[in-house]
Parts: sequence; C-alpha cells; structure tokens
Amino acid sequence: MKRLTLLNTLLFVLVCIGCAAAATSTPPLPKYQGWTKSVRKVVTDKKSLFYGIHYIYADPKAIKGYQAGNKFPEGSRIVVEHFNIKGDNSSIDGPKNMVVLMKKDKTRKATGGWLYAGYTAEGKPSRLDPVKNCFECHQKEVAGRDYIFSGIADFK
Ligand code: HEC
Repeated sequence: MKRLTLLNTLLFVLVCIGCAAAATSTPPLPKYQGWTKSVRKVVTDKKSLFYGIHYIYADPKAIKGYQAGNKFPEGSRIVVEHFNIKGDNSSIDGPKNMVVLMKKDKTRKATGGWLYAGYTAEGKPSRLDPVKNCFECHQKEVAGRDYIFSGIADFK
C-alpha cells in the first residue's frame, strides 16, 4: 500500500515536470503563410535592429484584435518574417534571416500575457530569452497597445 502511494507520488511528479516543460518551451512555428499579410516594410537604417525587409502575418483572431484597436483575443497569433537587403537594392527581398512569433496566452504572466518566440530562417527555435530579447522592448514602447507595435493600417 505504502509502495503504491510512493509510486503514485512519483508518477504525479513526473507528469508535472512534463507539463511545466510544455508550458515554457517554444512551440513549433505555425503554418502562417495563409494568414493576412501586411504591406512590405523596409528599414534602410543600418543602425536599426530591424534593418532589412519584413512582412507581418496575422491569423483571423489577431485581425479581429487589430480591428478592435489593438485589443487581442486569447489565442491570437502574429508572425514576422525578416529578410536581408541584398547589396544596395532594397526593392528585392534578400535571403530570409529570421522569423518571430507572438501568441496571446494569459498564462505567460512574465511577458504581459503573450508568448514570444524567435526562429531561424528554417523555422527552428532560436532560443532567445522572451523577457530580455523581446518583451522588454515591446513593454517599453507599446504597453498601451496590448504590446503590439503594428496596427490595422499595416494590413491595407
Ligand atoms: C528593440 C525593440 C524590439 C525587440 C527587442 C523585439 N521587437 Fe518585436 N517589434 C518591434 C517593432 C518596432 C515592431 C514593429 C515592426 C513593424 O511595425 O513593422 C515589432 C513587431 C513584432 C511583431 C509583430 C506584432 C507587432 O508588435 O507589431 C512580433 C510578433 C514581434 N515583434 C515579436 C518579437 C519577438 C518574438 C522578439 C524577441 C525574439 C521581439 N519581437 C523583439 C520591436 C522589438
């Protein structure tokens, strides 16, 4: 009997380690290619972190959030695809260099109720720190817009 209880406790602990890991790990990059795509955005200032070309993709829930003036429903997902500028010609997209994802998830309290994740050009998790590498900037600049810089005007 005692042994059984111990076994149950062990099992419980193991299952819980599993769920904690699932809650903090980076999810696979969703298939965002069919989502609403933003206008083409070009940053030619080489000192900017966003030097290059990027497109924002928003799923149907996120589009509702943009339409509501940046009030996003739970589960909204937004992806940004970044490309390099090749040579001096910014009218052509260079090679893809990274992809980032935000997903509205109220359990992510440390990052304002959003999951933040970075991926390589091939879609592999790039293990960036969601607080230091992402949230601190979004929080500083756009906390009053549900932490989202872009707006519905970027999708016209
Ligand atoms: C230095 C500031 C800064 C950092 C750090 C940063 N971002 Fe952003 N992020 C921005 C800006 C500015 C935009 C708006 C780009 C635009 O409107 O074209 C943006 C846009 C986004 C968007 C599209 C939604 C929105 O806010 O417009 C996502 C998704 C995103 N970032 C995720 C991330 C992730 C994930 C990280 C960390 C890996 C990260 N960002 C790090 C400044 C930052």
